Amino acid sequence: MRVFTTVKDLGNLDAALKEAFEVKKNRFAYKALGENKTLLAVFFNSSLRTRLSTQKAAMNLGMNVIVLDVNQGAWRLETERGVVMDGDKSEHILEAIPVMASYCDIIGVRSFAQFENKQEDYSEKILNQFIRYAGRPVFSMEGATTHPLQAFADLITIAEFKTKERPKVVLTWAPHPRALPQAVPNSFADFMNEANVDFVISHPEGYELDPKFVRGAKIEYDQKKAFIAADFIYAKNWSVFEDADYGQIISKDRSWTVDSAKMALTNDAFFMHCLPVRRNMIVTDDVIESPKSIVIQEAANREISCQVVLKRMLENL
Ligand code: CP
Repeated sequence: MRVFTTVKDLGNLDAALKEAFEVKKNRFAYKALGENKTLLAVFFNSSLRTRLSTQKAAMNLGMNVIVLDVNQGAWRLETERGVVMDGDKSEHILEAIPVMASYCDIIGVRSFAQFENKQEDYSEKILNQFIRYAGRPVFSMEGATTHPLQAFADLITIAEFKTKERPKVVLTWAPHPRALPQAVPNSFADFMNEANVDFVISHPEGYELDPKFVRGAKIEYDQKKAFIAADFIYAKNWSVFEDADYGQIISKDRSWTVDSAKMALTNDAFFMHCLPVRRNMIVTDDVIESPKSIVIQEAANREISCQVVLKRMLENL
């Protein structure tokens, strides 16, 4: 594997899940693979889970790890060609990327949507510049439009907890005070559409996601209806995708908050969220603290999803 940004990069999903469970059973079995190999994890944005799980996955594989927070201690980077660099940006990304690559074997990149220009966000400008100019395997640690390591961890978690061959999985929008990217729901849909699940997306009108990720998923605008007989509820906020209001918040309707009354409509569903989560906006305290909440197990599986990706990249260096 040279690049990891979408579900397609994993190839056969059953094989990827099998590998994930093998890795989870004995996470130090491949320690020799990463000997004298270095991972560079480049963060343009904040992180708790991705930062820690990526480092842990690399260490399980015997790798050295360098973490760079671009906005804390590095030179400010210019990303546009042709710009007269007479402002506060001291270094161009076109020099910075090959320099960074010269110190490592594999690169992970976190770079969120800017919400200034939809086309630019959806072109994954920064991530794709790393893929193009690094000359190293590159994986997304959440880009402007996708978060594949999260979605792979979500899939592993669903496979672990499901009690039927084809569970009903509901991705539901929930309110949030700030405008959030569509990266998590996009990748979750990308993965669920390839998995053996009955997949439903529920959101208020106006919050339709990119059809490229929604594909054949059922859309249900009535959240309570969507919850009926669900086996997994995956809550997430996202901002508007449509051109006219791209990146905007058009609703903070707290009737969409996931609470115990709505969970009672489900088939005793598990509750999932990628975290961090705003309690009593996205989900009530009692639901996230209930025995059916698997958000911690889901976050723990971030180590496993990343380890599978790194292992495959190391095997193909
Ligand atoms: N879910 C997730 O990616 O968490 P962080 O933003 O803390 O890395």
